[in-house]
Amino acid sequence: MALRGDLAFAPDWARTLVDPLAFAHEQRCLSFAWTFLGFTHDVENDGDWFRASLATRSVFVQRFGAELKGFENVCAHRFYPLRTKDKGNGPIVCGFHHWRYDGDGAAIGIPKCQENFGTVSRALGARLNPIEIATCGTLVFGRFPAQIRRETLEEFLGDGFPILAALSRSRSPPQTLTMPVAANWRLNLHISLDDYHTVALHPTTFGKNGYIRREDITYVRFGLHSAFLDTRVPDAFARMSAACASGSFRATHYCIFQILPNLIVALFRSDGMFFHCYFQQSVPVAHDRSIQSIRLFPAPFPADHAWHVRWPRTLSDPVRNRLLPHYVRRVGREDNDACERLQQVAHQVDKAPFLSAIEERIGWFEQSYRQLVAEGQDVLAKSPGKAEGRPAAGHILT
Ligand code: FES
Ligand SMILES: [Fe+2]
Repeated sequence: MALRGDLAFAPDWARTLVDPLAFAHEQRCLSFAWTFLGFTHDVENDGDWFRASLATRSVFVQRFGAELKGFENVCAHRFYPLRTKDKGNGPIVCGFHHWRYDGDGAAIGIPKCQENFGTVSRALGARLNPIEIATCGTLVFGRFPAQIRRETLEEFLGDGFPILAALSRSRSPPQTLTMPVAANWRLNLHISLDDYHTVALHPTTFGKNGYIRREDITYVRFGLHSAFLDTRVPDAFARMSAACASGSFRATHYCIFQILPNLIVALFRSDGMFFHCYFQQSVPVAHDRSIQSIRLFPAPFPADHAWHVRWPRTLSDPVRNRLLPHYVRRVGREDNDACERLQQVAHQVDKAPFLSAIEERIGWFEQSYRQLVAEGQDVLAKSPGKAEGRPAAGHILT
């Protein structure tokens, strides 16, 4: 028996979809949760940086030698964004008045500091707001700091950690697709966890084979996260985790992992034979807007195919890599259209939905989401002011 919708969903679950203040509070709470920010491919060399969004707040990640550091993308002087492009290389120098920062986020080069502020740069004590950074394979995660002990990224991902690490090891930078969606990010997550809609919404692709039967597949929960594996092999998830950890994993079937709060990772056959890895993030922008950011690359596992299958792959890979984004965009558009229609009536929703056996993971997601928001609320309650993640109050120098 599937998890009942009314047990998994709060009756007012749709409030953050229509109320900007409720959405802002939700995002403030989620800013303390490990959130996917990008790939290490973009920060391979010293001084490389990329910009990302962490619970609607602009942040950037930069390499300083062997270390990756993260900061809120807001200057300590008068709050200008320090990084105004998606990625680049170079020191942290603000474009507004040329304040320069070191790798610890301290303002170390302030133009005409003595003259204008009556002291030297370091003595002013201006610093960037740091974020905590951790990696899993080539995936970079971040969260805002808190004054209480929290899970490491490895603890947060649990048995999913070796799987994500293995799936992320692309040999080349992933292809990137971006799609704006006029819908709340949670609706995007719900549809990715919904194995019931494929016949109605994707009649010519996923849905052409009819409905999935729960007894033919495996659903599994690990920590706050969940997965769907297209197999009935007992302990399929635990076996996959162990094989990924030991380096012996080979792709044999479709699987998808939903990592709270907003990352989806899938391994799928791109043309019935070769596997691709798919990373999708539903990036919250506003209560009724999000951006779907997708990265794609050939699965980084040795192929067990015979030589006559393997050999033409070198020739067919470029064609496959060119066609795949079209297919992904088409299926994505079908899902996103449905999310946008749901958003249009979200103000009329005041109760929990019915969940079928093949929508059970949506209920799991809602339970985990509520737990994550409650944890963030706890952080806010225990560290007032500091947990707001803002620099100290402005200094007016007279
Ligand atoms: S706002 Fe950044 S230097 Fe002035
Ligand atoms: Fe779909």
